[in-house]
Amino acid sequence: MTYTPPRTLAAFFVYLVIRYLNQTDVPKIRGLPEIPGIPLFGNLIQLGTCHHVAAQKLADKYGPVFQARLGSKRVVYVNSFEAVKSIWITQQSALISCLTLHIFYKVINNDGKSFSSSESFPVGASPWDESCTQRKKAIASAITFNLILILDTTSSEPRVHSYMPFVDLEVMESLKELHDSSIGDLDIKPYIQPMALNMSPTTCYGYRISRGVNDALLREITDVEKKLTMFRGTSSNWQDFIPLLHLGSKKNIEANACKLRRQKYIGFLHDILKEKVAVDTDKPCVAGSSIGMPMVSGGLDTLPGNIIMAIGYLSSDHGAEIQKRAYEEIIKVYADGDAWKKCLEGEKVAYITALTKETLRFWSTIPISLPRVNIALIQYQGAMIPPGTAFLHPPHYAYGAGSRMCAGVQLANRELYVFLVRIIVAFEVVPAQNARDRPVLDALKCNADPSSLTMMPKPFKVGSWIIESEMRTNHLV
Ligand code: HEM
Repeated sequence: MTYTPPRTLAAFFVYLVIRYLNQTDVPKIRGLPEIPGIPLFGNLIQLGTCHHVAAQKLADKYGPVFQARLGSKRVVYVNSFEAVKSIWITQQSALISCLTLHIFYKVINNDGKSFSSSESFPVGASPWDESCTQRKKAIASAITFNLILILDTTSSEPRVHSYMPFVDLEVMESLKELHDSSIGDLDIKPYIQPMALNMSPTTCYGYRISRGVNDALLREITDVEKKLTMFRGTSSNWQDFIPLLHLGSKKNIEANACKLRRQKYIGFLHDILKEKVAVDTDKPCVAGSSIGMPMVSGGLDTLPGNIIMAIGYLSSDHGAEIQKRAYEEIIKVYADGDAWKKCLEGEKVAYITALTKETLRFWSTIPISLPRVNIALIQYQGAMIPPGTAFLHPPHYAYGAGSRMCAGVQLANRELYVFLVRIIVAFEVVPAQNARDRPVLDALKCNADPSSLTMMPKPFKVGSWIIESEMRTNHLV
């Protein structure tokens, strides 16, 4: 007898298992090329640790917009300017939410509250709802308001509301530390990171952490926030896409430890702010505008990443030409030799504004973008993409695009502008003597950990500042 029912049953069972393992949250989208994947993992293995590079190679074969599967999640990869414009900008009211990844949402940001409201998540990671809308508006207006010098005469003691004195202080301290240490070739990272880090608690909580490259609280925040961005990378956290991996995951334990450490310092910063508000000595800050939220990480990795790579580039041969031209342009605009001070008042040197923009564009500090999710149907060249689908775009959109674009743009631009003007007027960045210490200046290869959400520059050194800088930096000593 040739008929063997058990085998047929086994085959049917295998078929059901494969079908189950191939299931996705959103069904296959008609009209968009799909990258062939394997059960359970989908395209995770194929996309590797460097998603944006793999996605660009796949775009060469499948076209600028294609669908892939990250485990059980269907994701649309968008790889051309025209397509990003059509989806992120033209249809921005539909592409307004974000992906709730298991580790980041269910472990790190789970404060025991109901998930019906996003208020316990940082704004950039919040699904779209009323709380998220209000908090984003508040951040944007707090930043816009505090970038202008406004004399507040309503209180008994007139106060100036502005973030610019903080920018002044942090950039000055950073350059002063660099100046004091500038003997021989130097790893600049430890001097740049505290600057951005201190801007965050200052702008969020009105509290400045006492500085110094060895400060314990600064180191704790840097360490925890760095680990947190690693938990948000799409290529290194497979348990976000394969529910089976939630079981007994070591990452859950690590994420929980980070969550507790973060709760400690955020609680500390909130308590200080509450005390200051109580005695009316609070400084202008976002949380002080009554938005309780964990927003410490705005610009934490992105700003230093940009500044570090900009300095790295200035140390190259082309960087020397840029420094020369930039210095001439600065001197033309600030002819009285007061560039150090006047650069706080606005962006007057077009060349530096251009350098700021190019720095942001070239060194993509969030290379593969934050995964966005549509809340309404999105159409692309005849394909109907249903709500709940995740979208990723390629590098070089420094602040993202559309409705969830960075809320800190204006502040970040000003910080970069001030930093570049000051480093160019005060110093000359030269290459490290040893060629092996020089930076990797390829925008994609410069990243030490491509699996992390944000770019982490590979270590490098730049050379000592030239003798003339002594004269220009006398006031820092
Ligand atoms: C060079 C510095 C910075 C860069 C490159 C940068 C980049 C980004 C990017 C790419 C996003 C995601 C946008 C998207 O998904 O489309 C974002 C979101 C965000 N950023 Fe920034 N950022 C920087 C500095 C800052 C600063 C200084 C702050 C706050 C003071 C800030 C606050 C935010 C907030 C609140 C969001 C979430 C916006 C939303 O989800 O609606 N950023 N940023």
